[in-house]
Amino acid sequence: MRQATGKNLPRDDRGFIGRVESQVDPRTGVRMVSCAFEVDRYYPRCYDALGIAMPPSIRCSVPKRQAEFLAGRYAGVLALQYLPSVHNQCVQIGIGAQRNPLWPSGVVGSISHVAGMAVCAVAPSVEMDFLGIDVELWMSAKTCREVATIISTGRERDLCQAEGMSEHVALTLIFSAKESLFKALYPAVQDFFGFEVAEASELCLESKILTLRLSECFAQTHTLQREYVCHFTLAEQCVQSVVCGVFPGRASTRFIT
Ligand SMILES: CC(C)(COP(=O)(O)OP(=O)(O)OC[C@H]1O[C@@H](n2cnc3c(N)ncnc32)[C@H](O)[C@@H]1OP(=O)(O)O)[C@@H](O)C(=O)NCCC(=O)NCCS
Repeated sequence: MRQATGKNLPRDDRGFIGRVESQVDPRTGVRMVSCAFEVDRYYPRCYDALGIAMPPSIRCSVPKRQAEFLAGRYAGVLALQYLPSVHNQCVQIGIGAQRNPLWPSGVVGSISHVAGMAVCAVAPSVEMDFLGIDVELWMSAKTCREVATIISTGRERDLCQAEGMSEHVALTLIFSAKESLFKALYPAVQDFFGFEVAEASELCLESKILTLRLSECFAQTHTLQREYVCHFTLAEQCVQSVVCGVFPGRASTRFIT
């Protein structure tokens, strides 16, 4: 298998990967790479073609899962090439005990994929302690009815309504923000935690910031700060959210709130 490096990123994938975009998010300072991909163009040899190793657990999965995993890992490898500590090195992003991506040392990162789009965000761990990204398509009215009380509290829904948000925007945003928080804090917590652990406490539509607050008990148990800033982007079909920052007591040179 050819290994992906910065100088020679292989792309003999018969059009599985479409448009690739890369930017430093001006609000958070994290490097983001997005890759469009077409499940219908996926075939197992795309892994070799893109220089990504197919883990045994993925080998047993259905083609759609193999495709989204590949697109997410490819976005990840491309994003890593922008970091000086990784640039031009052959890297693979492993899989941890609870599906968490395993990043090369000195890197924090996160992956999300939805509807033919994979997104990866990375940053050097000297600048950032935690990083989670999530993209969600807008929920349907039916899904909203089914999940509202599972993923959100009445206070959170009131907060969003007071800002004039429609129900599906509010619920999709709350869901996405909490998924990003989960991904960001998983490396510190090392265990599953549910939606009841965090509550959206402030919303600023102008700056597109939702503040999430952990329950006192959960924060104390895991020695975590209680408040987390979630930067979000509302697009035509989806919401993207990013939760990132430094833990208290550690100064960051580049993190912008
Ligand atoms: C794990 C979870 C967050 C994934 O989110 P999703 O919307 O289903 O899927 P996405 O495409 O956005 O993200 C999938 C990626 O998340 C990453 N991920 C999965 N588990 C993870 C974990 N434990 N820690 C960090 N990242 C994780 C992986 O990179 C995965 O892609 P991959 O398997 O191809 O590598 C979700 O399935 C889940 O279990 N949520 C419940 C936990 C939760 O959100 N609690 C709320 C706390 S306030």
